[in-house]
Amino acid sequence: MTATRLTEVPLLPEIRLYQAAEQAGLFDSGYSSDRPPPFWAFAWPGGVALARHLLDRPETVRGRRVVDLGSGSGVVAIAAFLAQAQGVRAVDADPAAVTAIERNADANGAQVEAVLGEADPVRIADAEVILVGDAFYTAAVAAAMTKLLSAAARRGVEVLVGDPGRGFLPRHLLGEVARYDVPVRPALEDTKVKPTTVWRFTV
Ligand SMILES: C[S@@+](CC[C@H](N)C(=O)[O-])C[C@H]1O[C@@H](n2cnc3c(N)ncnc32)[C@H](O)[C@@H]1O
Repeated sequence: MTATRLTEVPLLPEIRLYQAAEQAGLFDSGYSSDRPPPFWAFAWPGGVALARHLLDRPETVRGRRVVDLGSGSGVVAIAAFLAQAQGVRAVDADPAAVTAIERNADANGAQVEAVLGEADPVRIADAEVILVGDAFYTAAVAAAMTKLLSAAARRGVEVLVGDPGRGFLPRHLLGEVARYDVPVRPALEDTKVKPTTVWRFTV
């Protein structure tokens, strides 16, 4: 298990997360390209921007049932709780992320149901709002997310995505909602700040 400490998150003074050390890169400490990186040990710019948006505009989720898909650390789910969503489910395909979500939710006094699962219709069945932070980084993940999210948007579910311009973002299906300059780790992103957009799936 990656070593983490409860630390502040850039742009999100309301939230602290158990995160890997500042200088840690995805492929340090024995991580290699044939092992998945510990996505849950960092707050990714897409999730940070989306969480900031929820805290700036709590009416987006207040009183509504929310699912955070590909939750990682749980940063978006925690922000949704703080913005007074009525029920928050955080779904991730990685068992280590589920553990991290529970630990981070506890650290922030947030009630979040952490669920192990894939991007599939069962996990989002009762959602009024679906939130997705930074999940368009591979063709396979983006394809699974896009299929599910565009079908949900067609049913009238509000679907919001935070993304810093990853390669597989389906731009043609999205309308811009907000933009943030998110401070990031150069070891992860090759830059200090990532302009990041909150998008809404359109139909
Ligand atoms: C880059 S991380 C983003 C985490 C968090 N949303 C954030 O912005 O900090 C992507 C997350 O999506 C999860 N994931 C990838 N494919 C998935 C799928 N098909 N279903 C559910 N979760 C998935 C990964 O395990 C990982 O935790």
